[in-house]
Amino acid sequence: MNVEQLRAETPGCRERVHLNNAGSSLMPDRVLGVIQDHLALESRIGGYEAEAAGQEAIEAAYRDVARLLGAAPSQIAFTENATASYTQALSSIGLGAGDLILTTRNDYVSNQIQFLSLQKRLGVRVVHAPDLPEGGVDPRAVGELIERERPRLVAVTHVPTNSGLVQDVAAVGAVCREHDVLYLVDACQSIGQLPLDVAQIGCDFLSASARKFLRGPRGAGLLYVSERVLERELVPLFLDMRGADWIAADQYRLAPGARRFENWEFAWALVLGTGEAARYALELGLAPIAERVGRLAARLREGLRALDGVRVLDRGRTLSGLVSLTVEGQDPAALLLALRERGVNTSAQIREYAVLDFDDKRVQATLRMSPHYFNTEAEVDLALAALAEIIRESPRPAGVGVP
Ligand SMILES: Cc1ncc(COP(=O)(O)O)c(C=O)c1O
Repeated sequence: MNVEQLRAETPGCRERVHLNNAGSSLMPDRVLGVIQDHLALESRIGGYEAEAAGQEAIEAAYRDVARLLGAAPSQIAFTENATASYTQALSSIGLGAGDLILTTRNDYVSNQIQFLSLQKRLGVRVVHAPDLPEGGVDPRAVGELIERERPRLVAVTHVPTNSGLVQDVAAVGAVCREHDVLYLVDACQSIGQLPLDVAQIGCDFLSASARKFLRGPRGAGLLYVSERVLERELVPLFLDMRGADWIAADQYRLAPGARRFENWEFAWALVLGTGEAARYALELGLAPIAERVGRLAARLREGLRALDGVRVLDRGRTLSGLVSLTVEGQDPAALLLALRERGVNTSAQIREYAVLDFDDKRVQATLRMSPHYFNTEAEVDLALAALAEIIRESPRPAGVGVP
């Protein structure tokens, strides 16, 4: 991987040490260019006309996003964000009173809120499968719960937002396939960071957004839908004129493929940007990307463990590029600001983002650092030095500490 060239293609590298790729990564100039060109075309010839003129490029976006996931273009729906993808999928299952959603202790906050909302409104039951001792959901426990509880849906977040965990989505997928249970995977943090293959994972739905490790734009997401889902005619609760044709006063006909999970109005510029980001990642190769992200994150964890008062919180058999930590006696939100002043971007996570995980770890808030392949070892060391300096400059008052 030619990191120097990749950095030259990433304007943001010149201004900041960006260690918030789990929040929103830096777009390569190629991705930005595709978006700007389409917006310029829309402003010149009209939005619908630009869409017609861009048909080939739009088809290429479906094709290349599908290639990234090992799927067919007809199995990809574009959406506004990962959460929109997720709710489209959830709403298609037709959950009712007594139906069970089996999920994990590390699923994303918005997913958990949606499950609770379904519980409140429809009487859906929600069960969290237990973790392995080393962290991450226990696939065998998922199998036992499936046999005992017969869930309508198993939902697993691949790489949680709140720690460095990678959940074994393929092992859970194998159990779901064995029992023919619908399986929804949140791959928002893994897309663009780790190789993904929907056949190997065995999922029915996979949701993601473009702006994170994929390095696409904000405000763009996608959903993969399996042939099983399409054949069973599972469709979102609120279909619109893109998802179906209104063919008689009391009848509609479903659109082909995953398009039935889309809405009519699209920011096509962002769809094109997502396609370009997928091509960029494919050209680099997901295995080398995963390897480099893993190496930078390992360097970061090692350096953090050597700092006074720092506790690295990541657990699990396999770790991702998301590094979570606390510094004794320091508020992560204040650390974020102090690091930002030194040109280092990070993220602060609070208990409300991950109640189960944070309560298990007995923390109220954490600092998250998430390097990508375009970060350098020197940047990681600079961030460590900046954090060490901040800790030195603000000695904690005796007896006061954030656990
Ligand atoms: C694991 C995970 N899932 C889902 C989401 C939601 O993505 P979006 O904000 O694009 O809806 C996030 C965002 O941080 C995330 O980290």
